Amino acid sequence: MTSTVLKTDRLILRKMKRTDLPNLMEIFSDPVAMRFYRSTKTKEQAEDWISWTLRNYRSYGVGLWIAEEKASGRILGQCGITPQDTGGVTEMEIGYLFARREWGKGYATEAALACKEYGFTSLNYRKLVSIINVHNLASIRVAEKVGMKKEKTFHRAGNRMHVYSITNS
Ligand SMILES: CC(C)(COP(=O)(O)OP(=O)(O)OC[C@H]1O[C@@H](n2cnc3c(N)ncnc32)[C@H](O)[C@@H]1OP(=O)(O)O)[C@@H](O)C(=O)NCCC(=O)NCCS
Repeated sequence: MTSTVLKTDRLILRKMKRTDLPNLMEIFSDPVAMRFYRSTKTKEQAEDWISWTLRNYRSYGVGLWIAEEKASGRILGQCGITPQDTGGVTEMEIGYLFARREWGKGYATEAALACKEYGFTSLNYRKLVSIINVHNLASIRVAEKVGMKKEKTFHRAGNRMHVYSITNS
């Protein structure tokens, strides 16, 4: 059974597996990539992240997927759709985290646009959000390029977070 969920011009988004741990650790152990998260992650925390992802696949039919370069099979990062609390309400979020060596090549935007299309067209979602630390300018730019607009700002774990959103019109 294929684990491919989505394809774009340059990318394949496929389901995450337990054996992706070393791939994920490249991102999770990088303090620059994890600057806007609570901290870097240990292997145990990364294993919990994979467990959370596999639970999301079962419960919601979506979750974070592994982004691979189509041409080479190289693993670039993660992008997908997960349920998130946006200050009292649970909404479906497009999330993206890429390895630092791959930043600035348009991969996050390409993957996030594919997730938006999938969410609206195949899953018939009414709305998608991205929750972004107010200082995370690259992520804000990706949300804007996906067509999202700033909806509100709330506090989470001592940080100010923007909720960017788009509705299916
Ligand atoms: C956010 C992230 C996914 C973006 O990935 P990416 O593949 O580099 O994104 P893209 O190349 O598609 O687009 C990035 C955009 O941000 C812009 N950008 C990058 N750094 C920026 C900065 N410091 N200030 C303003 N804009 C910035 C780029 O110029 C580009 O916009 P442009 O196409 O208009 O020039 C990547 O930086 C990342 O993985 N960060 C760590 C994890 C993270 O913070 N994830 C988001 C959590 S909400």
